[in-house]
Amino acid sequence: MEAYREHAFDVLIVGAGGAGLRAAISVMEAGLSCGIVCKSLLGKAHTVMAEGGAAAALGNMNDGDSWEWHFVHTMKGGGYLNNPLIVEIYAKEAPERVRELEEYGAVFDRTPEGLIAQRTFGGHVPFKRLAHVGDRTGLEIIRTLQDKAVSLKPKIFMEMTVIRLLKDGGRVVGALAYDRHTGEFIVFHARAVVLATGGWGRMYKFTSNSWESTGDGAAMAFEAGAELIDMEMVQFHPTGMVWPPGVRGILVTEGVRAEGGFLRNSKGERFMFNPEYMTDVYRGKFAETEEEALAWLSDSRKHRSPPELLPRDVVARAIYKEVRAGRGSPHGGVFLDVSHRGEEYIKRKLPSMYEQFRALGDIDITKEPMEIYPTIHYTMGGIRVEPETCASSLPGLFAAGECAGGLHGANRLGGNSLTDILVFGKRAGDGAVQYAQSVSGGKASAEEIEEEMATMLAPLNAASGENPYVLAQELQEAMQKGAMIERTEAGLLECLDKVMELQKRAKSLRVEGDRCYNPGWHTARDLQFTLRISEIIVRCALERKESRGAQWRSDYPGLSEEWGKKNLVAVKEGDSVKIMERPLPEMPPHLKAIMEEKK
Ligand code: FUM
Repeated sequence: MEAYREHAFDVLIVGAGGAGLRAAISVMEAGLSCGIVCKSLLGKAHTVMAEGGAAAALGNMNDGDSWEWHFVHTMKGGGYLNNPLIVEIYAKEAPERVRELEEYGAVFDRTPEGLIAQRTFGGHVPFKRLAHVGDRTGLEIIRTLQDKAVSLKPKIFMEMTVIRLLKDGGRVVGALAYDRHTGEFIVFHARAVVLATGGWGRMYKFTSNSWESTGDGAAMAFEAGAELIDMEMVQFHPTGMVWPPGVRGILVTEGVRAEGGFLRNSKGERFMFNPEYMTDVYRGKFAETEEEALAWLSDSRKHRSPPELLPRDVVARAIYKEVRAGRGSPHGGVFLDVSHRGEEYIKRKLPSMYEQFRALGDIDITKEPMEIYPTIHYTMGGIRVEPETCASSLPGLFAAGECAGGLHGANRLGGNSLTDILVFGKRAGDGAVQYAQSVSGGKASAEEIEEEMATMLAPLNAASGENPYVLAQELQEAMQKGAMIERTEAGLLECLDKVMELQKRAKSLRVEGDRCYNPGWHTARDLQFTLRISEIIVRCALERKESRGAQWRSDYPGLSEEWGKKNLVAVKEGDSVKIMERPLPEMPPHLKAIMEEKK
Protein backbone atom coordinates (compact mmCIF):
# COMPACT_ATOMS: atom_id res chain seq x y z
CA MET A 1 0.00 0.00 0.00
CA GLU A 2 1.13 3.57 -0.76
CA ALA A 3 2.45 5.53 2.22
CA TYR A 4 0.62 8.53 3.60
CA ARG A 5 0.98 11.09 6.37
CA GLU A 6 -1.78 11.52 8.94
CA HIS A 7 -3.24 14.44 10.89
CA ALA A 8 -6.21 14.60 13.24
CA PHE A 9 -8.43 17.57 14.12
CA ASP A 10 -11.78 18.12 15.72
CA VAL A 11 -12.89 19.98 12.60
CA LEU A 12 -11.32 19.94 9.16
CA ILE A 13 -12.07 22.90 6.90
CA VAL A 14 -11.53 22.46 3.19
CA GLY A 15 -11.06 25.82 1.47
CA ALA A 16 -9.64 29.09 2.74
CA GLY A 17 -11.79 31.69 1.01
CA GLY A 18 -14.09 33.85 3.11
CA ALA A 19 -16.45 31.02 4.11
CA GLY A 20 -13.67 28.67 5.18
CA LEU A 21 -11.84 31.31 7.17
CA ARG A 22 -15.00 32.51 8.92
CA ALA A 23 -15.88 28.90 9.79
CA ALA A 24 -12.37 28.37 11.15
CA ILE A 25 -12.71 31.40 13.42
CA SER A 26 -15.85 29.89 14.98
CA VAL A 27 -14.19 26.53 15.48
CA MET A 28 -11.12 27.99 17.16
CA GLU A 29 -13.11 30.40 19.30
CA ALA A 30 -14.99 27.36 20.59
CA GLY A 31 -11.65 25.89 21.66
CA LEU A 32 -11.63 22.99 19.19
CA SER A 33 -8.66 22.01 17.06
CA CYS A 34 -8.93 23.08 13.45
CA GLY A 35 -7.09 22.20 10.26
CA ILE A 36 -7.54 24.33 7.16
CA VAL A 37 -6.57 22.88 3.80
CA CYS A 38 -6.30 25.18 0.80
CA LYS A 39 -5.65 24.23 -2.77
CA SER A 40 -3.76 27.43 -3.41
CA LEU A 41 -1.81 29.87 -1.23
CA LEU A 42 -3.57 31.31 1.80
CA GLY A 43 -5.31 34.53 0.78
CA LYS A 44 -5.72 33.54 -2.86
CA ALA A 45 -9.37 32.63 -3.28
CA HIS A 46 -12.28 33.51 -5.57
CA THR A 47 -13.57 35.73 -2.73
CA VAL A 48 -11.41 38.49 -4.19
CA MET A 49 -13.50 38.35 -7.37
CA ALA A 50 -16.52 39.78 -5.55
CA GLU A 51 -15.19 43.26 -5.94
CA GLY A 52 -18.02 45.75 -5.61
CA GLY A 53 -19.33 45.09 -2.12
CA ALA A 54 -21.04 43.04 0.59
CA ALA A 55 -24.82 43.46 0.75
CA ALA A 56 -26.33 44.12 4.19
CA ALA A 57 -29.30 46.24 5.21
CA LEU A 58 -27.25 48.59 7.38
CA GLY A 59 -29.34 51.51 6.16
CA ASN A 60 -26.42 53.93 6.30
CA MET A 61 -27.27 55.67 3.05
CA ASN A 62 -31.06 55.41 2.73
CA ASP A 63 -33.91 55.47 5.14
CA GLY A 64 -36.21 52.53 4.96
CA ASP A 65 -33.87 49.64 4.20
CA SER A 66 -34.42 46.61 6.41
CA TRP A 67 -33.74 42.88 6.53
CA GLU A 68 -37.28 42.42 5.22
CA TRP A 69 -36.48 44.37 2.05
CA HIS A 70 -33.23 42.47 1.63
CA PHE A 71 -35.18 39.23 2.03
CA VAL A 72 -37.73 40.24 -0.62
CA HIS A 73 -35.08 41.39 -3.12
CA THR A 74 -33.06 38.20 -2.69
CA MET A 75 -36.14 36.01 -3.22
CA LYS A 76 -37.24 37.98 -6.29
CA GLY A 77 -33.73 38.02 -7.73
CA GLY A 78 -33.55 34.25 -7.23
CA GLY A 79 -36.78 33.64 -9.14
CA TYR A 80 -38.34 32.34 -5.89
CA LEU A 81 -36.40 29.06 -6.03
CA ASN A 82 -34.42 30.08 -2.93
CA ASN A 83 -34.99 28.37 0.40
CA PRO A 84 -36.84 31.15 2.27
CA LEU A 85 -35.57 29.97 5.65
CA ILE A 86 -31.99 30.31 4.49
CA VAL A 87 -32.72 33.74 3.01
CA GLU A 88 -34.35 34.91 6.24
CA ILE A 89 -31.30 33.97 8.33
CA TYR A 90 -29.07 35.58 5.75
CA ALA A 91 -30.89 38.91 5.51
CA LYS A 92 -31.23 39.18 9.29
CA GLU A 93 -27.61 38.36 10.13
CA ALA A 94 -25.76 40.12 7.31
CA PRO A 95 -25.52 43.52 9.07
CA GLU A 96 -24.10 41.95 12.24
CA ARG A 97 -21.47 40.04 10.28
CA VAL A 98 -20.39 43.18 8.40
CA ARG A 99 -20.03 45.11 11.67
CA GLU A 100 -18.08 42.21 13.14
CA LEU A 101 -15.73 42.35 10.17
CA GLU A 102 -15.17 46.00 10.92
CA GLU A 103 -14.27 45.05 14.50
CA TYR A 104 -11.77 42.56 13.09
CA GLY A 105 -10.14 45.46 11.27
CA ALA A 106 -11.72 45.80 7.80
CA VAL A 107 -11.39 49.33 6.47
CA PHE A 108 -14.56 50.12 4.55
CA ASP A 109 -15.14 53.30 2.56
CA ARG A 110 -16.87 55.92 4.72
CA THR A 111 -19.73 58.37 4.49
CA PRO A 112 -18.92 61.97 5.46
CA GLU A 113 -20.51 61.14 8.83
CA GLY A 114 -18.05 58.28 9.35
CA LEU A 115 -20.45 55.39 8.74
CA ILE A 116 -19.71 52.47 6.41
CA ALA A 117 -20.42 53.73 2.87
CA GLN A 118 -22.83 51.69 0.76
CA ARG A 119 -23.64 51.54 -2.95
CA THR A 120 -26.46 49.91 -4.86
CA PHE A 121 -26.17 46.89 -7.17
CA GLY A 122 -28.57 45.09 -9.49
CA GLY A 123 -31.79 43.97 -7.80
CA HIS A 124 -31.12 45.92 -4.58
CA VAL A 125 -32.52 49.15 -6.07
CA PRO A 126 -33.62 51.59 -4.62
CA PHE A 127 -31.40 50.84 -1.61
CA LYS A 128 -27.69 51.51 -1.37
CA ARG A 129 -26.88 48.27 0.40
CA LEU A 130 -23.35 47.20 -0.44
CA ALA A 131 -20.63 47.98 2.08
CA HIS A 132 -17.51 48.39 -0.01
CA VAL A 133 -13.84 49.19 -0.23
CA GLY A 134 -13.58 50.85 -3.66
CA ASP A 135 -13.65 47.91 -6.06
CA ARG A 136 -11.47 45.71 -3.85
CA THR A 137 -14.03 44.59 -1.28
CA GLY A 138 -13.40 40.83 -1.54
CA LEU A 139 -9.69 41.41 -1.14
CA GLU A 140 -10.21 43.47 2.02
CA ILE A 141 -12.55 40.84 3.43
CA ILE A 142 -10.15 38.00 2.84
CA ARG A 143 -7.25 40.01 4.25
CA THR A 144 -9.24 40.77 7.40
CA LEU A 145 -10.49 37.22 7.95
CA GLN A 146 -7.04 35.84 7.29
CA ASP A 147 -5.47 38.12 9.94
CA LYS A 148 -8.14 37.17 12.45
CA ALA A 149 -7.98 33.43 11.72
CA VAL A 150 -4.18 33.29 11.78
CA SER A 151 -4.13 35.05 15.16
CA LEU A 152 -6.09 32.08 16.55
CA LYS A 153 -3.38 29.69 15.34
CA PRO A 154 -5.06 27.05 13.19
CA LYS A 155 -2.92 24.49 11.39
CA ILE A 156 -2.88 25.58 7.74
CA PHE A 157 -1.98 23.29 4.85
CA MET A 158 -1.34 25.26 1.68
CA GLU A 159 -1.14 24.01 -1.89
CA MET A 160 -2.81 20.77 -0.97
CA THR A 161 -5.79 19.30 -2.85
CA VAL A 162 -8.45 17.27 -1.09
CA ILE A 163 -9.57 14.49 -3.41
CA ARG A 164 -11.96 12.33 -1.41
CA LEU A 165 -14.14 12.50 1.66
CA LEU A 166 -13.57 9.52 3.94
CA LYS A 167 -16.42 7.78 5.67
CA ASP A 168 -17.08 5.44 8.50
CA GLY A 169 -20.30 3.76 7.43
CA GLY A 170 -22.57 6.62 6.44
CA ARG A 171 -20.69 9.29 8.39
CA VAL A 172 -17.94 11.60 7.10
CA VAL A 173 -14.84 11.26 9.31
CA GLY A 174 -12.10 12.91 7.31
CA ALA A 175 -10.59 13.40 3.91
CA LEU A 176 -7.73 12.28 1.70
CA ALA A 177 -5.51 14.94 0.14
CA TYR A 178 -2.26 15.20 -1.77
CA ASP A 179 0.47 17.77 -1.46
CA ARG A 180 0.83 19.60 -4.77
CA HIS A 181 4.57 20.14 -4.19
CA THR A 182 5.71 16.69 -3.24
CA GLY A 183 2.86 14.48 -4.43
CA GLU A 184 2.64 12.91 -0.96
CA PHE A 185 -0.74 11.68 0.28
CA ILE A 186 -2.21 12.93 3.56
CA VAL A 187 -5.10 11.43 5.50
CA PHE A 188 -6.99 13.91 7.68
CA HIS A 189 -9.07 12.45 10.48
CA ALA A 190 -11.81 14.75 11.79
CA ARG A 191 -15.03 14.54 13.73
CA ALA A 192 -16.62 17.04 11.34
CA VAL A 193 -15.64 18.36 7.90
CA VAL A 194 -16.67 21.76 6.53
CA LEU A 195 -16.52 22.18 2.76
CA ALA A 196 -15.90 25.77 1.68
CA THR A 197 -14.40 25.01 -1.68
CA GLY A 198 -16.16 27.63 -3.82
CA GLY A 199 -17.72 27.17 -7.25
CA TRP A 200 -16.98 25.63 -10.62
CA GLY A 201 -16.49 28.03 -13.49
CA ARG A 202 -13.53 26.23 -14.99
CA MET A 203 -15.51 23.85 -17.15
CA TYR A 204 -16.43 26.90 -19.25
CA LYS A 205 -14.09 28.60 -21.66
CA PHE A 206 -14.63 32.18 -20.51
CA THR A 207 -14.88 32.65 -16.78
CA SER A 208 -13.89 35.03 -14.02
CA ASN A 209 -12.82 32.00 -11.96
CA SER A 210 -9.16 31.08 -11.61
CA TRP A 211 -7.71 27.61 -11.91
CA GLU A 212 -8.81 26.38 -8.47
CA SER A 213 -12.56 26.56 -9.24
CA THR A 214 -13.14 23.02 -10.47
CA GLY A 215 -16.02 22.07 -8.21
CA ASP A 216 -13.99 19.75 -5.99
CA GLY A 217 -16.19 20.16 -2.92
CA ALA A 218 -19.52 19.62 -4.65
CA ALA A 219 -18.16 16.69 -6.64
CA MET A 220 -16.66 14.99 -3.56
CA ALA A 221 -19.86 15.53 -1.59
CA PHE A 222 -21.87 14.02 -4.45
CA GLU A 223 -19.56 11.00 -4.74
CA ALA A 224 -19.87 10.47 -0.97
CA GLY A 225 -23.69 10.46 -1.24
CA ALA A 226 -24.74 14.04 -0.39
CA GLU A 227 -27.56 15.81 -2.24
CA LEU A 228 -26.83 18.66 -4.65
CA ILE A 229 -29.52 21.24 -5.43
CA ASP A 230 -30.27 23.75 -8.26
CA MET A 231 -27.23 22.66 -10.23
CA GLU A 232 -28.62 24.02 -13.53
CA MET A 233 -28.22 27.55 -12.17
CA VAL A 234 -24.87 28.95 -13.32
CA GLN A 235 -24.43 32.71 -13.23
CA PHE A 236 -23.30 34.65 -16.27
CA HIS A 237 -22.02 37.94 -14.87
CA PRO A 238 -22.93 40.55 -17.49
CA THR A 239 -19.53 42.17 -17.65
CA GLY A 240 -16.32 40.31 -18.35
CA MET A 241 -13.41 41.63 -20.40
CA VAL A 242 -13.40 40.61 -24.06
CA TRP A 243 -10.16 41.99 -25.40
CA PRO A 244 -7.30 41.12 -25.80
CA PRO A 245 -8.05 37.37 -26.13
CA GLY A 246 -5.72 36.33 -23.29
CA VAL A 247 -7.79 38.23 -20.70
CA ARG A 248 -11.23 37.28 -21.97
CA GLY A 249 -13.60 36.52 -19.09
CA ILE A 250 -11.80 38.52 -16.38
CA LEU A 251 -14.39 40.27 -14.23
CA VAL A 252 -15.40 43.88 -14.75
CA THR A 253 -17.12 44.73 -11.51
CA GLU A 254 -20.81 45.57 -11.37
CA GLY A 255 -19.44 48.51 -9.38
CA VAL A 256 -18.82 50.23 -12.74
CA ARG A 257 -22.55 50.26 -13.44
CA ALA A 258 -23.29 51.07 -9.80
CA GLU A 259 -21.07 54.13 -10.15
CA GLY A 260 -23.05 55.28 -13.19
CA GLY A 261 -21.64 53.24 -16.08
CA PHE A 262 -23.92 52.93 -19.14
CA LEU A 263 -24.19 50.02 -21.54
CA ARG A 264 -24.30 50.94 -25.24
CA ASN A 265 -24.37 48.95 -28.46
CA SER A 266 -22.47 49.67 -31.68
CA LYS A 267 -25.15 52.22 -32.66
CA GLY A 268 -24.53 54.14 -29.44
CA GLU A 269 -27.96 53.15 -28.03
CA ARG A 270 -28.51 52.48 -24.33
CA PHE A 271 -30.10 49.19 -25.25
CA MET A 272 -31.26 48.28 -21.75
CA PHE A 273 -34.15 50.68 -22.46
CA ASN A 274 -35.13 48.58 -25.49
CA PRO A 275 -38.73 47.36 -24.93
CA GLU A 276 -37.66 43.95 -26.23
CA TYR A 277 -35.89 43.36 -22.91
CA MET A 278 -38.95 44.38 -20.95
CA THR A 279 -40.14 40.85 -21.51
CA ASP A 280 -37.21 39.71 -19.41
CA VAL A 281 -38.17 42.19 -16.71
CA TYR A 282 -41.67 40.80 -16.81
CA ARG A 283 -40.35 37.24 -16.66
CA GLY A 284 -38.25 38.17 -13.70
CA LYS A 285 -41.42 39.41 -11.99
CA PHE A 286 -40.15 42.94 -11.49
CA ALA A 287 -43.56 44.02 -12.73
CA GLU A 288 -46.82 42.25 -13.34
CA THR A 289 -47.41 43.50 -16.88
CA GLU A 290 -45.34 44.83 -19.73
CA GLU A 291 -46.85 48.29 -19.18
CA GLU A 292 -45.80 48.20 -15.55
CA ALA A 293 -42.32 47.16 -16.57
CA LEU A 294 -42.07 50.10 -18.97
CA ALA A 295 -43.37 52.47 -16.31
CA TRP A 296 -40.82 51.09 -13.83
CA LEU A 297 -38.03 51.71 -16.26
CA SER A 298 -39.08 55.24 -17.15
CA ASP A 299 -39.44 55.94 -13.43
CA SER A 300 -35.99 54.51 -12.91
CA ARG A 301 -34.56 57.23 -15.20
CA LYS A 302 -35.95 59.84 -12.83
CA HIS A 303 -34.72 58.06 -9.75
CA ARG A 304 -31.25 57.40 -11.13
CA SER A 305 -31.65 53.64 -10.79
CA PRO A 306 -30.89 52.71 -14.37
CA PRO A 307 -31.91 49.49 -16.11
CA GLU A 308 -28.22 48.62 -16.31
CA LEU A 309 -28.77 47.69 -12.66
CA LEU A 310 -31.42 45.09 -13.26
CA PRO A 311 -30.41 41.66 -11.92
CA ARG A 312 -27.52 39.95 -13.63
CA ASP A 313 -29.55 37.32 -15.50
CA VAL A 314 -31.62 40.04 -17.21
CA VAL A 315 -28.65 42.22 -18.17
CA ALA A 316 -26.53 39.27 -19.37
CA ARG A 317 -29.34 38.09 -21.66
CA ALA A 318 -29.80 41.57 -23.10
CA ILE A 319 -26.09 41.85 -23.94
CA TYR A 320 -26.15 38.39 -25.51
CA LYS A 321 -29.15 39.38 -27.65
CA GLU A 322 -27.56 42.67 -28.76
CA VAL A 323 -24.45 40.88 -29.96
CA ARG A 324 -26.49 38.16 -31.64
CA ALA A 325 -28.49 40.86 -33.45
CA GLY A 326 -25.26 42.27 -34.92
CA ARG A 327 -25.11 45.37 -32.71
CA GLY A 328 -21.98 44.33 -30.84
CA SER A 329 -18.57 45.96 -30.42
CA PRO A 330 -15.58 45.12 -32.66
CA HIS A 331 -14.46 42.18 -30.51
CA GLY A 332 -17.87 40.64 -29.92
CA GLY A 333 -19.09 42.44 -26.82
CA VAL A 334 -20.90 45.70 -26.09
CA PHE A 335 -19.62 48.98 -24.66
CA LEU A 336 -19.58 49.92 -21.00
CA ASP A 337 -18.81 53.57 -20.46
CA VAL A 338 -18.18 55.33 -17.15
CA SER A 339 -15.88 58.06 -18.50
CA HIS A 340 -18.52 60.76 -17.84
CA ARG A 341 -17.83 60.35 -14.09
CA GLY A 342 -14.43 61.96 -14.54
CA GLU A 343 -10.90 60.87 -13.78
CA GLU A 344 -10.69 61.72 -10.08
CA TYR A 345 -13.94 59.92 -9.24
CA ILE A 346 -13.11 56.81 -11.28
CA LYS A 347 -9.64 56.47 -9.82
CA ARG A 348 -11.05 56.81 -6.30
CA LYS A 349 -14.06 54.51 -6.64
CA LEU A 350 -12.84 52.04 -9.27
CA PRO A 351 -9.06 51.93 -8.87
CA SER A 352 -8.68 48.26 -9.79
CA MET A 353 -10.79 48.63 -12.94
CA TYR A 354 -8.74 51.62 -14.01
CA GLU A 355 -5.53 49.66 -13.48
CA GLN A 356 -6.89 46.41 -14.99
CA PHE A 357 -7.90 48.01 -18.30
CA ARG A 358 -4.76 50.15 -18.48
CA ALA A 359 -2.41 47.25 -17.82
CA LEU A 360 -4.21 44.45 -19.69
CA GLY A 361 -6.06 46.23 -22.49
CA ASP A 362 -4.23 49.54 -22.97
CA ILE A 363 -7.57 51.30 -22.38
CA ASP A 364 -8.00 54.42 -20.24
CA ILE A 365 -11.49 54.00 -18.78
CA THR A 366 -11.53 57.63 -17.64
CA LYS A 367 -11.59 58.56 -21.34
CA GLU A 368 -12.81 55.57 -23.37
CA PRO A 369 -15.48 52.88 -23.08
CA MET A 370 -14.67 49.29 -22.19
CA GLU A 371 -15.73 46.30 -24.27
CA ILE A 372 -17.50 43.68 -22.18
CA TYR A 373 -19.44 40.41 -22.58
CA PRO A 374 -21.00 37.99 -20.05
CA THR A 375 -18.57 35.72 -18.23
CA ILE A 376 -19.22 32.68 -16.04
CA HIS A 377 -18.86 34.00 -12.53
CA TYR A 378 -20.82 32.07 -9.93
CA THR A 379 -22.75 28.89 -9.26
CA MET A 380 -26.02 29.26 -7.39
CA GLY A 381 -26.51 25.51 -6.99
CA GLY A 382 -24.52 23.31 -4.66
CA ILE A 383 -24.58 21.02 -1.66
CA ARG A 384 -28.01 21.00 -0.02
CA VAL A 385 -27.73 22.21 3.56
CA GLU A 386 -29.90 22.80 6.61
CA PRO A 387 -30.59 26.52 7.14
CA GLU A 388 -29.55 26.75 10.79
CA THR A 389 -26.43 24.58 10.84
CA CYS A 390 -25.26 24.21 7.23
CA ALA A 391 -25.31 20.44 7.79
CA SER A 392 -25.44 18.53 4.51
CA SER A 393 -27.53 15.41 4.00
CA LEU A 394 -24.47 13.35 5.13
CA PRO A 395 -23.73 13.20 8.87
CA GLY A 396 -20.46 14.93 9.71
CA LEU A 397 -20.38 17.00 6.53
CA PHE A 398 -21.11 20.75 6.47
CA ALA A 399 -20.92 23.24 3.61
CA ALA A 400 -20.84 27.02 3.29
CA GLY A 401 -20.38 29.68 0.66
CA GLU A 402 -20.51 29.07 -3.07
CA CYS A 403 -20.27 25.28 -2.82
CA ALA A 404 -23.55 25.21 -0.86
CA GLY A 405 -26.96 25.72 -2.50
CA GLY A 406 -30.29 27.19 -1.45
CA LEU A 407 -29.64 30.84 -0.69
CA HIS A 408 -29.56 32.33 -4.16
CA GLY A 409 -32.13 30.24 -6.02
CA ALA A 410 -32.05 30.78 -9.77
CA ASN A 411 -29.91 33.91 -9.76
CA ARG A 412 -27.67 35.59 -7.21
CA LEU A 413 -27.81 39.33 -6.67
CA GLY A 414 -24.44 41.04 -6.79
CA GLY A 415 -23.05 41.66 -3.33
CA ASN A 416 -24.94 38.74 -1.82
CA SER A 417 -21.98 36.38 -1.93
CA LEU A 418 -19.65 38.32 0.35
CA THR A 419 -22.22 38.37 3.12
CA ASP A 420 -23.27 34.78 2.34
CA ILE A 421 -19.74 33.61 3.19
CA LEU A 422 -19.73 35.60 6.43
CA VAL A 423 -23.17 34.54 7.66
CA PHE A 424 -22.98 30.90 6.66
CA GLY A 425 -19.23 30.56 7.22
CA LYS A 426 -19.98 31.34 10.86
CA ARG A 427 -23.02 29.08 10.97
CA ALA A 428 -21.18 26.16 9.35
CA GLY A 429 -18.35 26.57 11.88
CA ASP A 430 -20.83 26.65 14.77
CA GLY A 431 -22.76 23.70 13.32
CA ALA A 432 -19.56 21.66 12.94
CA VAL A 433 -18.52 22.48 16.52
CA GLN A 434 -21.85 21.37 17.90
CA TYR A 435 -21.72 18.15 15.91
CA ALA A 436 -18.06 17.42 16.71
CA GLN A 437 -18.78 17.81 20.42
CA SER A 438 -21.59 15.29 20.19
CA VAL A 439 -19.73 12.40 18.51
CA SER A 440 -16.65 10.32 19.16
CA GLY A 441 -13.97 9.91 16.50
CA GLY A 442 -14.73 7.53 13.65
CA LYS A 443 -12.42 5.34 11.61
CA ALA A 444 -11.80 6.11 7.95
CA SER A 445 -12.17 3.15 5.65
CA ALA A 446 -8.75 1.80 4.63
CA GLU A 447 -10.25 0.45 1.37
CA GLU A 448 -11.46 3.92 0.38
CA ILE A 449 -8.03 5.40 1.02
CA GLU A 450 -6.30 2.71 -0.96
CA GLU A 451 -8.76 2.87 -3.83
CA GLU A 452 -8.46 6.65 -4.15
CA MET A 453 -4.65 6.63 -4.05
CA ALA A 454 -4.56 3.97 -6.78
CA THR A 455 -6.97 6.00 -8.96
CA MET A 456 -4.90 9.13 -8.41
CA LEU A 457 -1.65 7.42 -9.38
CA ALA A 458 -3.03 5.59 -12.43
CA PRO A 459 -2.29 8.35 -15.02
CA LEU A 460 1.36 8.45 -13.90
CA ASN A 461 1.72 4.70 -14.22
CA ALA A 462 -0.12 4.30 -17.53
CA ALA A 463 1.91 3.34 -20.61
CA SER A 464 -0.54 5.17 -22.86
CA GLY A 465 -3.74 7.19 -22.58
CA GLU A 466 -5.45 10.50 -23.17
CA ASN A 467 -3.92 13.88 -22.37
CA PRO A 468 -5.95 15.56 -19.58
CA TYR A 469 -5.34 19.06 -20.98
CA VAL A 470 -6.90 18.07 -24.30
CA LEU A 471 -9.97 16.65 -22.56
CA ALA A 472 -10.30 19.72 -20.32
CA GLN A 473 -10.22 21.95 -23.40
CA GLU A 474 -12.81 19.83 -25.23
CA LEU A 475 -15.04 20.03 -22.15
CA GLN A 476 -14.78 23.83 -22.04
CA GLU A 477 -15.68 24.06 -25.74
CA ALA A 478 -18.70 21.79 -25.25
CA MET A 479 -20.03 23.57 -22.14
CA GLN A 480 -19.47 27.03 -23.62
CA LYS A 481 -21.46 26.00 -26.68
CA GLY A 482 -24.22 23.89 -25.22
CA ALA A 483 -24.78 25.01 -21.60
CA MET A 484 -24.20 28.75 -21.80
CA ILE A 485 -26.69 31.62 -21.53
CA GLU A 486 -29.12 30.37 -24.15
CA ARG A 487 -30.02 26.73 -23.75
CA THR A 488 -32.12 24.43 -25.92
CA GLU A 489 -32.91 20.75 -25.73
CA ALA A 490 -30.90 19.99 -28.86
CA GLY A 491 -27.88 21.96 -27.67
CA LEU A 492 -27.98 20.42 -24.19
CA LEU A 493 -28.31 16.88 -25.56
CA GLU A 494 -25.33 17.40 -27.84
CA CYS A 495 -23.39 18.78 -24.88
CA LEU A 496 -24.38 15.82 -22.67
CA ASP A 497 -23.22 13.36 -25.34
CA LYS A 498 -19.86 15.07 -25.41
CA VAL A 499 -19.53 15.12 -21.61
CA MET A 500 -20.34 11.40 -21.43
CA GLU A 501 -17.83 10.65 -24.20
CA LEU A 502 -15.20 12.64 -22.29
CA GLN A 503 -16.01 10.78 -19.06
CA LYS A 504 -15.30 7.51 -20.86
CA ARG A 505 -12.06 8.79 -22.34
CA ALA A 506 -11.02 10.18 -18.95
CA LYS A 507 -10.96 6.65 -17.52
CA SER A 508 -7.61 6.12 -19.25
CA LEU A 509 -5.45 9.19 -18.85
CA ARG A 510 -1.72 9.39 -19.08
CA VAL A 511 0.55 12.12 -17.78
CA GLU A 512 4.29 12.59 -18.14
CA GLY A 513 6.67 13.13 -15.25
CA ASP A 514 6.50 12.33 -11.56
CA ARG A 515 4.54 13.39 -8.46
CA CYS A 516 6.58 16.51 -7.66
CA TYR A 517 4.70 19.66 -8.64
CA ASN A 518 3.24 18.19 -11.80
CA PRO A 519 0.43 20.38 -13.23
CA GLY A 520 -0.55 17.71 -15.77
CA TRP A 521 -1.19 15.27 -12.94
CA HIS A 522 -3.21 17.89 -11.02
CA THR A 523 -5.28 18.55 -14.14
CA ALA A 524 -6.00 14.84 -14.46
CA ARG A 525 -7.70 14.90 -11.02
CA ASP A 526 -9.46 18.24 -11.49
CA LEU A 527 -10.87 16.94 -14.76
CA GLN A 528 -12.76 14.18 -12.93
CA PHE A 529 -14.44 16.82 -10.75
CA THR A 530 -15.39 19.10 -13.66
CA LEU A 531 -16.68 16.22 -15.77
CA ARG A 532 -18.99 14.99 -13.01
CA ILE A 533 -20.30 18.47 -12.22
CA SER A 534 -20.77 19.27 -15.93
CA GLU A 535 -22.89 16.17 -16.36
CA ILE A 536 -25.07 17.23 -13.43
CA ILE A 537 -25.46 20.82 -14.71
CA VAL A 538 -26.52 19.62 -18.14
CA ARG A 539 -28.89 16.94 -16.89
CA CYS A 540 -30.61 19.44 -14.59
CA ALA A 541 -30.78 22.08 -17.34
CA LEU A 542 -32.43 19.51 -19.61
CA GLU A 543 -34.92 18.59 -16.93
CA ARG A 544 -36.08 22.13 -16.05
CA LYS A 545 -38.35 22.99 -18.95
CA GLU A 546 -38.80 26.70 -18.36
CA SER A 547 -36.84 29.97 -18.25
CA ARG A 548 -36.10 31.29 -14.78
CA GLY A 549 -33.13 33.26 -13.52
CA ALA A 550 -29.92 32.02 -15.07
CA GLN A 551 -31.68 29.13 -16.82
CA TRP A 552 -32.86 30.53 -20.16
CA ARG A 553 -34.37 27.75 -22.23
CA SER A 554 -35.24 29.51 -25.48
CA ASP A 555 -37.36 26.47 -26.40
CA TYR A 556 -39.34 27.04 -23.16
CA PRO A 557 -39.21 30.84 -22.96
CA GLY A 558 -41.60 31.58 -20.11
CA LEU A 559 -41.86 30.99 -16.39
CA SER A 560 -43.77 27.81 -15.61
CA GLU A 561 -46.04 27.76 -12.60
CA GLU A 562 -45.34 24.05 -12.10
CA TRP A 563 -41.57 24.36 -12.30
CA GLY A 564 -41.74 27.36 -9.99
CA LYS A 565 -42.84 24.99 -7.24
CA LYS A 566 -39.82 22.69 -7.29
CA ASN A 567 -36.09 22.41 -6.93
CA LEU A 568 -34.05 19.81 -8.74
CA VAL A 569 -31.93 17.57 -6.53
CA ALA A 570 -29.06 15.42 -7.83
CA VAL A 571 -27.87 12.28 -6.02
CA LYS A 572 -25.59 9.40 -6.90
CA GLU A 573 -27.29 6.11 -7.68
CA GLY A 574 -24.78 3.32 -8.37
CA ASP A 575 -22.33 5.21 -10.51
CA SER A 576 -25.04 7.28 -12.21
CA VAL A 577 -26.55 10.69 -11.64
CA LYS A 578 -30.17 10.61 -10.52
CA ILE A 579 -32.16 13.84 -10.80
CA MET A 580 -35.22 14.23 -8.56
CA GLU A 581 -37.88 16.91 -8.39
CA ARG A 582 -38.46 18.18 -4.85
CA PRO A 583 -41.20 20.61 -3.73
CA LEU A 584 -39.79 23.97 -2.60
CA PRO A 585 -39.51 24.36 1.17
CA GLU A 586 -42.71 25.82 2.57
CA MET A 587 -42.60 29.59 3.17
CA PRO A 588 -43.83 30.25 6.72
CA PRO A 589 -46.74 32.70 7.18
CA HIS A 590 -44.61 35.56 8.60
CA LEU A 591 -42.40 35.49 5.49
CA LYS A 592 -45.41 35.22 3.19
CA ALA A 593 -46.80 38.33 4.87
CA ILE A 594 -43.54 40.20 4.23
CA MET A 595 -43.55 39.15 0.58
CA GLU A 596 -47.15 40.26 0.25
CA GLU A 597 -46.58 43.61 1.92
CA LYS A 598 -43.47 44.48 -0.11
CA LYS A 599 -44.63 43.07 -3.44
O1 FUM B 1 -19.23 42.66 -9.88
C1 FUM B 1 -18.77 42.40 -8.79
O2 FUM B 1 -18.10 43.19 -8.15
C2 FUM B 1 -19.05 41.08 -8.22
C3 FUM B 1 -19.65 41.02 -7.05
C4 FUM B 1 -20.28 39.77 -6.65
O3 FUM B 1 -20.16 38.78 -7.36
O4 FUM B 1 -20.97 39.77 -5.62
